[in-house]
Amino acid sequence: MPQRTVPVSSRLGDVRYEIRGALSRRARELEAEGRQIVRLNIGNPGLFGFTVPSHLRETVSTHLDRSEAYCHQQGLQGARQAIAAREAARGAVAAHADNVFIGNGVSELIDLTLRALLNSGEEVLLPSPDYPLWSAATVLNGGRARYYSCPASRGHQPDPDEIEALITPRTRALVLINPNNPTGAVYPRELLQALVQVAERHRLLLLSDEIYDGILYDDAEFHPLAPLAGDTPCITYSGLSKMHRACGYRVGWISLSGTPAKFGEFRAALDLLSSLRLCANVPTQWAVEPALTGPDTTSELVRDGGRLHAARRAVIDGVARSEYLDVVAPQGALYAFPSIRTQYFDGFDDEDFALELLESENVLIVPGTGFNIRERNHFRLTLLPQPAEIDDVFMRIDRCLGRIASRSTSARHVA
Ligand SMILES: Cc1ncc(COP(=O)(O)O)c(C=O)c1O
Repeated sequence: MPQRTVPVSSRLGDVRYEIRGALSRRARELEAEGRQIVRLNIGNPGLFGFTVPSHLRETVSTHLDRSEAYCHQQGLQGARQAIAAREAARGAVAAHADNVFIGNGVSELIDLTLRALLNSGEEVLLPSPDYPLWSAATVLNGGRARYYSCPASRGHQPDPDEIEALITPRTRALVLINPNNPTGAVYPRELLQALVQVAERHRLLLLSDEIYDGILYDDAEFHPLAPLAGDTPCITYSGLSKMHRACGYRVGWISLSGTPAKFGEFRAALDLLSSLRLCANVPTQWAVEPALTGPDTTSELVRDGGRLHAARRAVIDGVARSEYLDVVAPQGALYAFPSIRTQYFDGFDDEDFALELLESENVLIVPGTGFNIRERNHFRLTLLPQPAEIDDVFMRIDRCLGRIASRSTSARHVA
């Protein structure tokens, strides 16, 4: 008789998260064998020598004795007030602490908001490439992902006409990730205005993931969506993980903006779902207010001469030195999304390449298809390592691509 195993929900069939997937597991095996793997798969600043600003750390440690009870399901009042004040200063309509919900990272809130929104088979417009949690949370909550393309050929910018053409009677929301993970694209004001108009025309909820909102390079300008959306319902997502290098604190938030009446029962639905999980971690919520009202600790990293700026430069230069690679220079966030010039290869496959790079050169990247794109010639790496390490990584990438290219050529000769 076949052995009975624990069943798995069929909803998981379409759910993947390659950033921590099979390649990452293989990297761990190789590390256990004594290899040193350069891990470029996760945007986790704490693993690359970045530290949480000391004023945040101190605030958390001095408030531990006030962190032992559950707090309000929406989060600590002072933290929500600071978030609402920032949203109001930016010009968001109806910015108020009552319209702010704090969660265990933006991750939890992506799931919670889609759970509050979606009925079975309803559609969410997502960027391709996307940050794959958005796709996963859509599917896990019974929805369907409809992808709008943000190809390298368009500087990874979306096209409002293409987005509008994807809308059906079942479409409920339009998701934007700006600045973008994985591409590093930052969206201009006119584009955002056009996207707001699409949402207005079709009564879509705007979901704007702005977790990288101050990580900008050269003359890139960030425009928060909420003020441009005005009365149109919009949810803005942000948190401490990236701007404040505090991934492990697990603090993220959402702020609802737009005419309150247009939200109907939605706010109450979020309140109910927040209540069911009682509250987010309390100790680290104390860091929100000093993070938003204290000194700017990000600009020095991204301006000319700063560590992230130099790392981004190293990626652009590494790509320029390679005969096999192209990249749209990231304007923001913590990643680059280079592409491989496929003419040098017979049927290039991003997953095979990533595995070979890991096995032969000890470098872990994420294949582009892990971000829900069809093309199989992209990969993502983080900008968090020291620039010298990035130089070395691009030397290894080129060596690996050279080997694959020579095999391809010899395959053609044989044929
Ligand atoms: C675009 C985007 N949204 C959300 C998240 C999740 O962030 P958090 O640490 O707040 O859960 C990430 C993490 O990398 C991200 O890149």
